[in-house]
Parts: sequence; C-alpha cells; structure tokens
Amino acid sequence: MKTPNFFIGVALSPILSAAPVSAQQATPPAAQVALSADERAARLVAMLTLDEKISLLNGHFPRMMRVLPADAAPSGGYFAGVPRVGIPPIRETDASVGVAENGPYGNDATALPSGASLAATWDPVIAHDGGAMIAKQTKQRGYNVLLAGGVNLVRDAFNGRNFEYLGEGALLAGRLAGASIAGIQGQHVASTVKHFILNAQETGRHGIDARIGEGALRESDLLAFELAIEDGQPASVMCAYNKVNGRYACENQDLLTGVLRKDWGYKGWVMSDWGATHSVAAANAGLDQQSGQELDKEVYYGAPLKAAVLAGTVSQSRVDEMVHRVLRSLFAVGAIDPQRSLGPLDVAGDNLVAQRAAEAGIVLLKNDGNILPLAASARSLAVIGGHADVGVLSGGGSSQVMPYGYVRGALPAGYPESAKGPVYHPSAPLDAIKRRASGQVTFDAGLDIASAVAAAKAADVAVVFVEQWALEGVDVSVRLSDHQEALIAAVAAANPKTVVVMETGGPVLTSWRGKIPAIIEAWYPGGAGGEAIARVLFGEVNPQGRLPMTFADSLDQMPRRSPAGLDLAPVQPKKFWESKPFSVDYKEGSSVGYRWFAEQGFKPAFPFGYGLSYTTFGYSDLTVVGVDPLKVKVAIKNTGNRAGTETAQLYLLRGPARKQQRLLGWSKVELQPGESRVVEIQVDPRLLANWDARARQWKVAGGQYRLAAGPNASEQRLSMTAKMRAATLRP
Ligand code: BGC
Repeated sequence: MKTPNFFIGVALSPILSAAPVSAQQATPPAAQVALSADERAARLVAMLTLDEKISLLNGHFPRMMRVLPADAAPSGGYFAGVPRVGIPPIRETDASVGVAENGPYGNDATALPSGASLAATWDPVIAHDGGAMIAKQTKQRGYNVLLAGGVNLVRDAFNGRNFEYLGEGALLAGRLAGASIAGIQGQHVASTVKHFILNAQETGRHGIDARIGEGALRESDLLAFELAIEDGQPASVMCAYNKVNGRYACENQDLLTGVLRKDWGYKGWVMSDWGATHSVAAANAGLDQQSGQELDKEVYYGAPLKAAVLAGTVSQSRVDEMVHRVLRSLFAVGAIDPQRSLGPLDVAGDNLVAQRAAEAGIVLLKNDGNILPLAASARSLAVIGGHADVGVLSGGGSSQVMPYGYVRGALPAGYPESAKGPVYHPSAPLDAIKRRASGQVTFDAGLDIASAVAAAKAADVAVVFVEQWALEGVDVSVRLSDHQEALIAAVAAANPKTVVVMETGGPVLTSWRGKIPAIIEAWYPGGAGGEAIARVLFGEVNPQGRLPMTFADSLDQMPRRSPAGLDLAPVQPKKFWESKPFSVDYKEGSSVGYRWFAEQGFKPAFPFGYGLSYTTFGYSDLTVVGVDPLKVKVAIKNTGNRAGTETAQLYLLRGPARKQQRLLGWSKVELQPGESRVVEIQVDPRLLANWDARARQWKVAGGQYRLAAGPNASEQRLSMTAKMRAATLRP
C-alpha cells in the first residue's frame, strides 16, 4: 500500500516568495503544528504567489486526468499542493461508507452499510465509530479528505441517492451526520458535509431549480446541515448541482455567505460538487474551491479567476480568504500535518465495526405469530432470490466501495451503460444461514417462479430476498419489480411461513405485505451484511433498527409521485453539466416525511421511527423535568422475555397555534427482561421554534405544547402538555 511521506525533503526548502516572512523562521508554517490553524494558514497565504493560490482553488478529478500524477490515485479529487512551502497534495476520496478508490478488481476497503441503514440505528456512537473506521482506512491510503457527510433530507422515496443519506428527519439526520463527521475527523482526515442544499432528486440534477420558502428551508434541510456542522465541525461543505430559488447552489450568496458564514459562523471552505461550478463570479458569492474541473465546462478557478483578480472583479483579499479557509480547515483537523503513526490495518476489527452497524440498522417490519427468529432446529429452509448466494447489494455511483471478491450483477434495462450494474459485497446471506441452520438449506435463484414455489413448498420456512438497486445520477422506482412482487406472492401462497428480506436503498411500496407474516428491511448492509442478516434471522441479535423514513402505503400519499423533469432530462446527458432547466416546488415545505403524513392525516404502511423487536416494551411516567430548555423523562420497561433495545421517541404533536408533528429527541436503551429504566430527553429549542425570516432568528411562541412519547411517529403511548415561555434565538 502507498503511504506517501509528504514532508520529506520540503521542510528546509528555500522560501522563494517575495512576501514578508520572518527570517528566523526555519520551519515552514505548514509544519509548525504548535501554531493555531488560522495562524499557520495566514502565514502560508502570505508566502504564496497568486498562481500558487489559484492552484489550490481548482481541483482535478484524477479518474479523468490525461496523465495521472505520481502522487495521485484514481479517486475523487486531487490538488498538487505547493511543495516549496510544505503544502502537500490534497488527496480526496469518496465517501460515507468507505474508501471508494476502485480499480477493476476492487480494493481492500471495508464497506459500512448504507447511510439509510446507519440512520436506522438512531445511534450516534455507531455513526462515530463507523466514521473513525473508514477514516483510518482513508488515511492508510494516503488521502487527507474524505468526501463523506451526505445529509440531504429524504423528501421523495424515488430519489436515487436516498441510500447515501440519513433519512427524512432533520434532527436525526443532522445529529448522525455530525457524529460520523466527528468520527472521521478524529482520525485527522478532513470531511465534507454535502450536498448543500436541496439536491433532493437525481433526475436533471444539473438543471433543476428547487423552490422553497426561507422558513421552510431553515426548519428542514438547512437545520440538518446546521446540526451536522455544529456537532461535526466538518472542514468543508460541498455545494450541490441544483439551483435553489433561481440560483445555482454553488453561487448562491444567500446560502454560502448569508446562512453559512454570517449566520452560522462557519470557518471551513466550500467546495463545489464535481461539475457544479458555473462561473468565476461564484467566488464572490462564497464558493472557495472548484472541484473536479475535468467535469466542468471551464476551469473557471484557473486562468479566468487569475484574470478576474488582475482586473479587480474578484478581490485579492477574497482569493486570500478562499485559500485561508482551505488551509486552516485542513490544519484544524490535522489532515496535512506530518504523517502520524498509522499502525497496521485491523481487517477483522474493521469488518466487525461494519457488521455491528448493519445489525443495529436492520429493521424488523413485521413478525406475525413470532415466526422469527428462525429456530436453528427448523427441519428445512428454502432461501430464494436476491442473489443471496453471492452477496449483499450495494448502492452505485461515486460512493461505491468495491471490495475484493465483489460480484457484478447484470445492468437492468433502461440504465446508462456507464452504470455497469449492481455490485454485491461478497458476504452471502446463504452461507451465513447455512452455518446456523441444523436442517437442510436449499437455494433457488428466484428467476423462475414455478421452481421457487416448488422449493418453498418443500421447506418448513421460505426466506425470500428482494432488492431495489439505486445509483447516483438516476432516480428509482418505488415499487419492487413486477417479477419480485409476483415471486413474493407465489412463494407466500405456497408456504405460509414466508419471510421477506428487503435490500433497498430507501422506502418502497409494500402492497404485498398483508400476505407475508415476517418482513425485514436490511437496506444495503455493507461488507459484513450477510452475516448481520443471518444473525438477526436466527435471533443472535435482537432487531433494534427503526425506520429513518416513512414507508408510504401508496403513491397517492407522497408529495410527488415521480421526479420533476423526467420528460426533459436525458438519462445520460451529452456533457456532464448539461440539463434542460426546470423547477420543482417543494410544496410540503418543512413538513418532510412523517410531518407531511401527520398533516395530511395519511396512514403509512410503516411509519417513521418504526421497528419491532423480539421483545416488547412498556412506557410510563412521562413528566416534564424543566422547560428552559425543555427536558422530559419517561420510564421504559422490557415487558418480554428477551434482552432488547428500545428507541424511545419524543414528538411534538401540537404547538400553541397549530397541529404540527416534529421529532424532538430520542433515547436508546438496552434492557434485560423485566428491567425498566428512566430516560431523559432534552429538546433543542430550535425544534420548537419557527424561523422568523424578517428578524432572521428562531422564534419560540409562548403557550401550550402537546408532546407524546412512543416507539414511532404514529404510536403515541403517552402524551402531556408543556407550557413554554416565548423566546427568540439567534441562528
Ligand atoms: C457526487 C459527489 C462526489 C463527487 C466526487 C459527484 O458526482 O455528487 O457526492 O463526492 O462526485 O466523486
């Protein structure tokens, strides 16, 4: 493995710049780790020539470079650095589930489960540990930036990148993203948070104008980013492809300068998404760095930026600030400090981190007659479909990790050829099931329904694996394929003990669910996913995952039935950045997901926050402990006969003025049979507030707030009222 030592040979190189530099300074500021990040950056900026500064502001997409520099890998991003002052190359790689540096044979990276699965854990510790694990692997490979931190809210079930994101709830998504980013940066790897903002569908992502009111945006997607940035302090924010209210996200001054810098005091740098820079003027709006220039129409932040500085249309001080932000943020996390000792890779340990995360993210959706867990003593099991014999499905696109031994499935009809086809991580559920079952286990690929039915009839229990492949750049069908739906129905008719295991990127319609006694949502469960699924099926792990997004009952319940611009946007544009302009009106505003369902009075198939366990829990004694900030406590009891974990959720049901549901907090608690514990939930006042656009602040209305505690957004076990004083809060 390549572990470059960037600092050998540069520490004492002469300083050629004419800029003022203290003569007694023997060590270049880049290596002066005792100075503050801002001081080091300021000293360096003073030493750099305009050309050198500009070289730090336009990045390459190595996979498309005509000649790959010796110190670059075929990954996400690359800047050569400025060796004469000790600035090493900036080497960037995707993304949130692991190192996505993929040659044709795969690599030795460990893949975490998808973002959706991580969100289903509702567990910041798992998010943190997963982040730390992939960051160590990132650092081992000589990268200093991980392009992780996807936190766009799931507004539409059809968004092709839902699998990368952390669900539909601003609080849940923001807190988990923050924890994951903190885990990454704790390993001295810079992280991003992305895609800022409202990149909520893939269809026509370069041409779409996302329209929404300011208050609605502040209370939803922006809140998720705000929390993620507060908790994680990411070095960089990646702005999105789309427009927001008429302006490209990467040149939207209101967002990049107004919200991010002024309101939130963000000190990091804004990098563009790859192919999302549209002008030099973006610099004045707040875009600091053009990424992946090979995908843009022009290298705006190259010669045109230099010309703009010389002509005075972009000020020298703005360029200095742009470079300063990049450098200070890399220094702040120790990402470009002289190499620290990395220690050997712990392959087994890393695999276990991925497995534990997958186990905690698996959601038990249905378990009629307690047909799960499977008894190891069941005489025979028929495992059917979903490539369960080769591995577990993963999401495609820039975040794709391809571990050694991966298997590529056939490219489904209608997908661009560049998508190649789904990648299966080589952790086959079938093998893991066989290792646990004492009876006979058969496998049927599920391609021929009659053969699957025969296999199901011959077995005690049938376990049907179904899949929905999702991929960056393309939106998905929210229904399983006709074939898979027919397979489920036929197998269930042949064997009443049928279990369905879903591997999907996000929510799907489950019109067939009435016929099936047991259903599991396993998402894309990552590098140890097969093992995790089998452990849940056999009860070695008591399921604890909770849905981070609503599963609708029908298309009619969704705010949009299909992606906007579907008729306009070609699946494969001729030029990467090309797309005809069109707009989408996010009419649900901040009422995303479960909030929309509550307001409309819709009953979903499976609500936000929902998930069963092999045990049961009781709720009692909901009381307010304090109101400034609001703090409640509630007692949770394990009323079953197995140890298990409950995620107790606190919701707002009604504010002083109107009915409005919001998740206010949650607490995860592991309980032995019969054990009970009192958990405390403290509420961030922004969750009770509305955004006052004129005053540019949060406003909590005085009055009565109706609260409920329970195991999901639709099931209020206990409720009560808290009286709050009116308050205003600065952003
Ligand atoms: C994606 C980003 C990714 C970048 C670099 C873009 O297409 O939207 O999420 O980090 O590529 O690979």
